[in-house]
Amino acid sequence: MKRRDFIRLTGIGTLGLLFSGCGIFSDKAVSPAAAAENAGTAAEGTTEKKILVAFFSRKGDNYEVGYIEKGNTHILADMIAEEIPGADVFEIRTVKEYAADYRECTEEAKVEKEQDVRPQLATKAANFQDYDIVFLGYPIWWSDLPMPVYTFLESYDWHGKTVIPFCTSAGDVMTGLEDRVIPRYAKGAQVKLPGLGLSGKRVQQETESVRPQVKKWINELRQMGVL
Ligand SMILES: Cc1cc2nc3c(=O)[nH]c(=O)nc-3n(C[C@H](O)[C@H](O)[C@H](O)COP(=O)(O)O)c2cc1C
Repeated sequence: MKRRDFIRLTGIGTLGLLFSGCGIFSDKAVSPAAAAENAGTAAEGTTEKKILVAFFSRKGDNYEVGYIEKGNTHILADMIAEEIPGADVFEIRTVKEYAADYRECTEEAKVEKEQDVRPQLATKAANFQDYDIVFLGYPIWWSDLPMPVYTFLESYDWHGKTVIPFCTSAGDVMTGLEDRVIPRYAKGAQVKLPGLGLSGKRVQQETESVRPQVKKWINELRQMGVL
């Protein structure tokens, strides 16, 4: 299922942000020596840097997957953490849960986006100041990051931190907003692309088929000297 079809089926047609920006490197300023050094580190799969995999995800009835006990992005977040020894995982959760019914949830999210709401969060990341790198995961909601992710971005001091985004949606894409939006709300953060955008249905239903792609992406980040 292409994202275009999702838009058609759900009536999300007018946002015009849909196919831009996927897979672009925002920063290529890594010296060959530094890259080689980090590639060496990567071979052992370890890094000196402290890494957090933070994600927002929703269980319940969802697009093309029926009722799920573990959200698509949650599955992807856990897999990313499994591939990075020592990484911690943090779930961004809201005080008020979204409707388990898919249609109802899309309506709730639409109103929140239109009103630029900041839903209150129920979880707080411990020792956030200690992390060098934050992998940030979310489902695409209305061609954007879900509003709780904006609350998360505005809740911490991001100076000196690198954010690497990943997401799930109806297609294998990112929102295309990441390198503009994330630093605007996560003040002081530097965003590194490429992010990883995968079909939520595939992550949910063919989970192990995704792992080679996750490994490849992480290796690419290591070779860039990001990890
Ligand atoms: C409120 C809502 C809005 C969504 N908007 C989009 C969208 O704009 N584009 C898209 O491709 N998928 C959209 N989807 C589908 C989700 O991005 C997709 O099902 C995702 O994998 C869900 O991840 P999760 O299980 O981690 O919440 C939307 C789903 C919901 C619930």
